[in-house]
Amino acid sequence: MVRTDGSREVWGSRVGVIMAVMGSAVGLGNFLRFPGQAAQYGGGAFLIPYFIAFLLLGLPIAWVEWSMGRFGGSRGFNSSPGIFRAVWPNRFAPYLGVLSLVVPVVIYMYYLYVEAWCLAYALRYLFGQMNFGTDPAAYQKFFGDFVGITGNGDALMIEGEGILGSAIFFLALCFCINFTLIYRGLTKGIEWCCTWAMPLLVICALIVLGRVLTLGTPNAAKPDQNLLNGLGCIWNPSTARASLWESLANPEVWLAAAGQIFFSLSVGLGVLATYASYLRRDDDVALSSVTAAAGNEFCEVVLGGMITIPAAFVFLGYGFVQNPPGTFGMGFVALPNVFNQMVAGRFFGFLFFLLLFLAALTSSLSMLQPAIALLEEGLGLKRKASVALLGWITAMGAAFVVFFSKDLTAMDTFDFWIGTFAIFILATIEVFLFIFGMGVDRGFEELNRGAEIRIPRIFRFVIKYVSPTYLLTVFCLWCYKEFFNTKTATRWVEIQSSPVVRLSLGFIVLVIVFFVILIARSAKRWNAAANDNPEVIP
Ligand code: ALA
Repeated sequence: MVRTDGSREVWGSRVGVIMAVMGSAVGLGNFLRFPGQAAQYGGGAFLIPYFIAFLLLGLPIAWVEWSMGRFGGSRGFNSSPGIFRAVWPNRFAPYLGVLSLVVPVVIYMYYLYVEAWCLAYALRYLFGQMNFGTDPAAYQKFFGDFVGITGNGDALMIEGEGILGSAIFFLALCFCINFTLIYRGLTKGIEWCCTWAMPLLVICALIVLGRVLTLGTPNAAKPDQNLLNGLGCIWNPSTARASLWESLANPEVWLAAAGQIFFSLSVGLGVLATYASYLRRDDDVALSSVTAAAGNEFCEVVLGGMITIPAAFVFLGYGFVQNPPGTFGMGFVALPNVFNQMVAGRFFGFLFFLLLFLAALTSSLSMLQPAIALLEEGLGLKRKASVALLGWITAMGAAFVVFFSKDLTAMDTFDFWIGTFAIFILATIEVFLFIFGMGVDRGFEELNRGAEIRIPRIFRFVIKYVSPTYLLTVFCLWCYKEFFNTKTATRWVEIQSSPVVRLSLGFIVLVIVFFVILIARSAKRWNAAANDNPEVIP
């Protein structure tokens, strides 16, 4: 809400806000999740539904978030409950924003753990502690023990390796780095960090890419395992497993592509609206949003796509591509094995995991800001108190994820229900609020005010009709696959059979209840303030 002294936190510069939004978008999704999904769902064929989802879902919903965010910001609100209230003056509106707090906070709880692995791997490369020979099982064992998947006695602490063998140490370190930056505030913390981390990350990625593109045919006995065929794995629309049409006829490919676009662009995460709320009333949003989205796509498709799969293919061969490992298997098991086999692999391994860490850090920072905004503007807490409270909540969540890291059950449950299911719901709420609460014409006026480019008129139609239809169709198909199709629906069984899954769901419910209570208190304060001073507060 508008501070009593009339001051407002705003971004320091135009470049700063673009870097911050790009920082939020470019993350583990770009360098690990995207290549994994592309390899699994048909290489180049995956890119067709992917770009369609970008144009019809990702970009339009990003505009929805940006315009509602700046609108709410100009009325003094930075948290989604406040922004939604400004967009739709109704007493229930703030409660529609509960997911925009729960989603980023819960994702943060497990994302931070993966960020910690990236930092740990980077430093292990730096100190020459990542050489486990050429046996894939050795990498698998190390990863399983280090992060606690195996759940045996060694988990989370590799004996005799000191802090370099402790995932918990790196988790605590990443936690401190994130909260120190958040404590420093929007410009001195988030903007400052993203302004140096993003260029550094791109430089690291370009150097690693340069190495990958000069790999040629490292194994002369296997001439087929060459770079060109490796690039083909990511770009060719037909693969050994499926032709282009077979891939496109598979609804799962469309679902995966839409899910990837949401996660990657940070759309439906509740982050973009908060970031946009720190713009000034007439700052451009159209060009800035397109620039940030384009930057994200460059990092994802060009850098993320061309590094991991081709490098893994030339060393690990067709078996790898035909049966690609999941996101973590690719990043933390297959790639270390690959770096180990390449000349100067220690250096490139270090750069690769450093860039992953920077990408993850700039994303995880963005996940904290929506809740900080609510604690400050809704409850009137000072920075120290809001950071301490959020730190305590997220520390409990991260500890929960680590405590139940056997088979990564807690992480997987959080990722499914919040990192996928809730994102769809939040995106749907946002689109409907834009259409019915704000009105498409008013929304586009907001988008075009101060804009340095014109958003084509066709996108009014897209946002009003195409995006909601597309979104609901994808969501219904996804629900059918996950909950009702007897061949693919495993979630009910999991809930019934695993106490850890039930506990994780219970934890999520607690977080939701906590934020609903906070929103109720905030709404009360906002209403009281609005009665006292109707001029300032909507
Ligand atoms: N957008 C972030 C990522 O891709 C969350 O990892």
